[in-house]
Amino acid sequence: MDYNEMKSKLEEYNQMQILKAYDRADEKTKKELECQIERIDFKQVADLFETTKNEINFNNDVIESIAYVDKEKLNEEDYKKYLEIGEKAIKDGKYSVVTMAGGQGTRLGHSGPKGTFDIGLDSHKSIFEILIDTLKENNEKYGVIIPWYVMTGKENHEDTVKFFEDNNYFGYDKNSIKFFQQGKLPMCDESGKILINEQGVIKEAADGHGGIFQSMKKNGITEDMEKRGVEWAFVGPVDNVLVKMVDPILLGIMIDKKVLAGGKSTVKANPSEKVGVFCRRNGKPGVVEYTEITQEMAERVDENGELVFGESHINCNMFNVKVIEEVANKNLPYHIAHKKASFIDENGNLVVPEKPNAYKFESFIFDAFDMLDDMAILRVKREEEFAPVKNAAGTDSPETAKKLYLDYYNNLKK
Ligand code: UD1
Repeated sequence: MDYNEMKSKLEEYNQMQILKAYDRADEKTKKELECQIERIDFKQVADLFETTKNEINFNNDVIESIAYVDKEKLNEEDYKKYLEIGEKAIKDGKYSVVTMAGGQGTRLGHSGPKGTFDIGLDSHKSIFEILIDTLKENNEKYGVIIPWYVMTGKENHEDTVKFFEDNNYFGYDKNSIKFFQQGKLPMCDESGKILINEQGVIKEAADGHGGIFQSMKKNGITEDMEKRGVEWAFVGPVDNVLVKMVDPILLGIMIDKKVLAGGKSTVKANPSEKVGVFCRRNGKPGVVEYTEITQEMAERVDENGELVFGESHINCNMFNVKVIEEVANKNLPYHIAHKKASFIDENGNLVVPEKPNAYKFESFIFDAFDMLDDMAILRVKREEEFAPVKNAAGTDSPETAKKLYLDYYNNLKK
């Protein structure tokens, strides 16, 4: 792409601040900008910016609660049946785990990949090592090596891979761990202008974990799964130190009921807890995210005084590989996050905002549920499976996660 082509493209989309940044840049930065200008879909960014003007409302949607199975309340016969079905699939090598580790630990105040964070256990194990421990335990139990796929982001990919290499993959089979990168999208200001970052190039941010399906396909992950005979993938977060990545009961239910997706829920602690909630939207399974739910919906109770939307989505979902491939061919909707983002202005000066000044566009993994008629939801016990590490202090912090982690393992020993 030559200068004039770039110029006319940027003029067409009213993004001439990028050309100014180009004119100011050194040769190396110019090259990077050229690649970005060629690759970025400016029409998509313009369309996404238009959506920031729309108010979120669910007026045209019928949103209802969704049926779930309570693991605690399963009778012995059903429990045994699901366990046998699920365990068989795992022993047959049909199971894999995908960890979403692409987000930045901004809220946590940790500069490295979130998985490298030490929550303060005496052993000083990182979150990644805590997760590996769980996988190793299951490998031993089922006599397999579960393939583990780790999704990283542009900012943390190299550091993540290096961390595993430096630690010799924590004794896990190196060939059974694969890393793949998620996608990214430009950030823009409140007038739709794409931002320039401190390095003088277009400021791009992770495009949300909804991009996982396309990234898995594009990076050959689904192909690798098929080669290994894997049919199911648990997709979970990096920021929960009690994440139960191998759950034969949920898998057994899904196989038995012939549904191709599943998710785990816990009872929502209170109406304002920062968790998404499972629902049925226009008849299809879905999640209403905590940033988008109305206060009325969050507080709505049924005749027994229980929250109507009380099944928290804890980001622990399971998919059949066929679903991952199908969703990879479609585009999920984007959600808007209003963020504080520093940038270089048109005069080449760094601006560090004190309040949100920019939009980030993210798609969410759970919007894929909408493409299915049904999914299995398994309610599990919070104290056994949900110890999130999100904030530097207070709720969902390393301190609360460490306590939940120690309580759980101390209880197991009793
Ligand atoms: C998330 C869920 C919310 C759920 C809560 C439970 C989303 C959008 N919402 O909220 O419904 O109730 O967890 O703890 O996920 N990640 C990526 N790439 C990205 C963005 C995130 O890999 O582009 C990963 C993060 O590393 C993390 C997980 O996804 O492992 C959750 O991300 P985060 O954006 O922090 O979600 P929450 O706002 O906490």
